[in-house]
Amino acid sequence: MAEKLATLSFSDGKPSVDFPVLGGTMGPEVIDVRALYAKTGMFTYDPGYLSTASTRSKITYIDGDEGILLYRGYPIEQLAERCSFLEVAYLILNGELPNKQQLEQFVDIVVHHTMVHEQLSRFYSGFRRDAHPMAVLCGVIGALSAFYHDSIDINDPRSRDISAFRLIAKLPTITAMTYKYNVGQPFMYPKNSLSYVENFLYMTFGTPCEEWKPNPVLTRAMERILILHADHEQNASTSTVRLAGSTGANPFACIAAGVASLWGPAHGGANEAVLKMLDQIGDAKHIPEFIKRVKDREDHSMLMGFGHRVYKNYDPRARIIQKTCHEVLEELDLKDDKLFKLAMALEKVALEDDYFIKRKLYPNVDFYSGVVYKALGIPVPLFTAIFALARTVGWIAQWNEMFSDPDSKLNRPRQLFTGPTTRDFVPVEKRK
Ligand code: CMC
Repeated sequence: MAEKLATLSFSDGKPSVDFPVLGGTMGPEVIDVRALYAKTGMFTYDPGYLSTASTRSKITYIDGDEGILLYRGYPIEQLAERCSFLEVAYLILNGELPNKQQLEQFVDIVVHHTMVHEQLSRFYSGFRRDAHPMAVLCGVIGALSAFYHDSIDINDPRSRDISAFRLIAKLPTITAMTYKYNVGQPFMYPKNSLSYVENFLYMTFGTPCEEWKPNPVLTRAMERILILHADHEQNASTSTVRLAGSTGANPFACIAAGVASLWGPAHGGANEAVLKMLDQIGDAKHIPEFIKRVKDREDHSMLMGFGHRVYKNYDPRARIIQKTCHEVLEELDLKDDKLFKLAMALEKVALEDDYFIKRKLYPNVDFYSGVVYKALGIPVPLFTAIFALARTVGWIAQWNEMFSDPDSKLNRPRQLFTGPTTRDFVPVEKRK
């Protein structure tokens, strides 16, 4: 079949130029503009990447209009219902669901890398006790390259694998330690007889003084939350990881960069912001007044947990998490939880309001995740750190994918310069 082309023509009489149109397996085609500068001396201008595909990827597919999310082709609903987090991690990292033996082997490797270098525990004491967990995570994950410098040769696939296992295995330990340091309790060593998720909950909520027993409903809820957050194609933090990775930076540095990017309230920090917002609203009777403020351009209030760059329909992850929320509140006998009721009332008002309908603003994954975390007893500042724990799988898979992509290059955007033109230096005594 003849190559499909897109033609760019100019209103000033310059000759038009053709560009190849590339198709993926699903989703919109893309215009390959790599030769644009060579052919025209021009760049494209797309702040926020509203119409720019930054890479090819085989990992995650989103149809934002239909509210579809697939990991390696599998619908998120099926994975969240039927898989463990590590099974999904294997899928995201390797492209296929593991068979029984592959899964056992994968779990075994992860489980046997959960402990962190003992010296790392002393690294924590450099932080204030009230440091935000995301600040601690940025620092500690970045520091891993100093503790594990035997696995930072990015050109060696085995070294990349070891770093990947280390990151996935140690993130629950590091995140739980962040919490323990915050509340002044002793760090809990991982217990490898527990599952990945149980181990995280044990290291977070267990103490050396009492026996800790997993609750299957709560473990399942946390498992599901991790699955829902594991990857989300070229979002801001993943793009940050890829950008850092494109310079040849080591994997721990790249993941630390991803954590920093995730922290923002427009991205992973939204789950924490939702809780703060619900607290601030306080009661259903204040919803109309809050919605009025959100719609007032001068006020700069946002309805946190609503809206998404890609989803212009209900975020499929939000549906699953809302169901999980019901299950957790039922299990904990919190069916009349004030926060959950307030969240549902707020969602209802927003979904019926013209402002949100017109702009296609629907609840996203973070709208209900905070309510679940709160019910599980997880302190608000730790919410985004748990998002980071889960997303580490996606970050690593996307970072690794770069190495097998022949089109991969140093990521170096260009700009439309609007500053001063060339001018001569003026000595300080002659400046006005
Ligand atoms: N509350 C009120 N108005 C909103 C909201 C919101 N949450 N989100 C978007 N809008 C308005 C926005 O003001 C704009 O209005 P107008 O057309 O009149 O100027 C219109 O909707 C389009 O918004 P946009 O800013 O062009 O959309 P975007 O794609 O750049 O923003 C977003 C996406 C996620 C940054 C934004 O919706 C937002 O800040 N939401 C709240 C934060 C949040 O929940 N983030 C979590 C995202 S999901 C988790 C993750 O994957 O990280």
